[in-house]
Amino acid sequence: MKVVVFKNKRKASKFISEIICEEIINNPNLVLCLATGRTMKPVYRQFIKKIYKEKINLNKIHTFNLDEYIGLKQNSREKFRYFMDKNFFNKVKLKNSQISFLNPYASNLKKECDRYENEINKFGGIDLTILGIGRDGHIGFNEPGSGRKSRTRVVKLNKLTRKDNKIFFHSFRKVPKEALTMGIDTIMHSKKIILIAFGRNKNEAVQKAINGKISDEISASFLQNHKDVTIVLDSFAARKLD
Ligand code: GLP
Repeated sequence: MKVVVFKNKRKASKFISEIICEEIINNPNLVLCLATGRTMKPVYRQFIKKIYKEKINLNKIHTFNLDEYIGLKQNSREKFRYFMDKNFFNKVKLKNSQISFLNPYASNLKKECDRYENEINKFGGIDLTILGIGRDGHIGFNEPGSGRKSRTRVVKLNKLTRKDNKIFFHSFRKVPKEALTMGIDTIMHSKKIILIAFGRNKNEAVQKAINGKISDEISASFLQNHKDVTIVLDSFAARKLD
């Protein structure tokens, strides 16, 4: 795995947006898998800046998102779809037809997960996946115990994950207990992966993901076996690395 450390998240985000733009220039039909969360906010900010500055043409790209909560109201502002509309899609005027999202309102969630997997395959697989990491080492919502062969599915969220995401809700009680997420195997099929971590509270998960043993206790550790992973950190998240 290639590990790149920056002084701060702004510099790191600029670097990440350069990579994504380069990939789009090289392949205008790029299929992206995108993440939500605090980490992604500065990344989308820099990415959008670069898109406008360099006049990057997004007309042919397609995006999938990693995960979505189950149990929120259709118009809830805590939905990952809302986060994406607000922080990225609307700002670059991506068409609805360019966006794929897991639908937590489907009457049969198992079928919905299979539909998502099929849709990814229809697009020829994902070219570039952008990931954050949870304090328990999760990627997407693949909590500890998620198997290497796991695919898109319904998952239960850990207390720690729900606590960390409380900031987006008014109370812990309101954080959903379940979500839909792409699986580890789904993520591992992406041709290229960038994992991003900012801040001191991620340094333990980062250290375990990079230097720890590959195990389902730290989902991100499975990335050690992927052939094209870049880990982008700020100095705080890198603090526990040798
Ligand atoms: C969340 C999301 C992940 C995200 C991670 C880190 O629970 N499901 O996709 O990467 O946890 O979130 P944050 O960037 O807010 O720390």
